[in-house]
Parts: sequence; C-alpha cells; structure tokens
Amino acid sequence: MRKPFIAGNWKMHKTVAEARALATELRDGIGNAPHRVAVAPPFTALAGVVEALEGTGIEVAAQNMAAALEGAHTGEISASMLLDLGVKLVILGHSERRHVYGESDELINTKVLLALEQGLEVILCIGETLEERESGKLKDVVVHQIDSGLRGLDEKALGRVTIAYEPVWAIGTGKTATPDDAEEAHRIVRGRIGELYSAQAAESMIIQYGGSVKPNNVKGLMAEADIDGALVGGASLKAADFIPIARFDQ
Ligand code: PGA
Repeated sequence: MRKPFIAGNWKMHKTVAEARALATELRDGIGNAPHRVAVAPPFTALAGVVEALEGTGIEVAAQNMAAALEGAHTGEISASMLLDLGVKLVILGHSERRHVYGESDELINTKVLLALEQGLEVILCIGETLEERESGKLKDVVVHQIDSGLRGLDEKALGRVTIAYEPVWAIGTGKTATPDDAEEAHRIVRGRIGELYSAQAAESMIIQYGGSVKPNNVKGLMAEADIDGALVGGASLKAADFIPIARFDQ
C-alpha cells in the first residue's frame, strides 16, 4: 500500500512571520494526519517553519537547491545548508525552474543525484506544456523527463524519490487535469519506472499530481488508482484550503 503524500509549495510567498503563522495553523489542523504531509516555504522562512513544526508529523522541504556542494555560486543554496536547517526534502525540476529559469534536464539530474547522495529526499517534478499535449507528445515528454531526471540513479536511492506529475498548463491557471487525464499520465509514469527499474519499484513509487489542486477537486483525483498524492501551490497558502486537502478523505 502506498501512503498518500500531500505537499504544499509556497513558492515566493510569505515573510518569516507569515510562514510561521501558517505553519502553526497547519500544526494544529493536520499535525496528526494519517497521511504524509510536507510544506515547502521559501528559503528565508525554512528555519522558522522547521522550528514551528518540530515534533509534528509535518515535514519541511526546500523548493530548489544548488547543483554544487559549495564554492563560488552567488545566490545559491547548497544541500548541506538545507540539512543544517533541519530540512529533509527538496523539490527539483519544478516547471517554473524549467521554463522560467531555464533549468535543463541535465542540470536537474545533477541536482537529483547530489541531493540524494547528500541525504535529502527528492520530489522530482515533470509535466508537459499545453502545446506538447495538443501535439500528442504527452508520453514522449513524460518518459524523457523521467529518463533524464533519474539518469544514474539506482533502485535503492529511488525509494527516496517522489515524482510529481504537474501538467504545465494546469499550474496556477485554475485548470485542473480531469482525474482521467491525470490518471493516464500517472500510468505512463509508473509504467516507465517499471521499465527502467522493476515491477516492485513501480508499485511502490509515490506519484503526486500537481496543477490547481483545490479542496473541491482533491477527492476525485485521489480516488484514481495511480494518483498517490498532491503537490499544491496556490491552495497551500491558506490553512483553510490546505487542511481539507491534507485531510481529503476525512
Ligand atoms: P498550483 O501550483 O496548485 O497553484 O497550480 C502547483 C505547483 O506549482 O506545484
């Protein structure tokens, strides 16, 4: 049985005080949820949120990480700096990093390998643009992003990777993939993991859906056989939205 995993990506929102206040509301509302729950505040609020969530089951993730261990990399944050703050997970390959900041498949792969080697868990984001979907390239794009994102990774380390399927056209647009469309993509992802690794690796891989997940559509998505969780942007910024998402089946 795969344990549902709901993660909130706060993107470039919230001061330290705002982030701590939200974390406190989440602690009270979902601190004891039966599912796996994580939040990803901006770098500046990580320490405050780690502190606010200490002793709860809610984990803290970073939204990105440098591709190098240390050195002359102005503006970057390393894996060891994240670990030093008590961060356990990092989101890599988010579509905003790929499409707005030009992160390549190779760069994302370097980050994935480095994060895992350093002891972080990874949420690897993949997903097609609207143009790619409309030109029938869904499968090619998803398979390519999995192959390149996981290149060089052995099956043991794969156990510390979650894949987030996030169709780019559904992120922040209010357009959610239908449960059927999302399920189709998730099946492609799981099938590819089976081809690259093993049936057991495919069976245990946690695959989140992301793209305009809201309290009113999470249940339908989570009812699909291959949707194991959600990566939530906009609706993770308010406790009143994120708590019912994290408690989708209660
Ligand atoms: P959204 O963002 O829920 O606001 O669409 C999802 C994401 O970018 O992870």
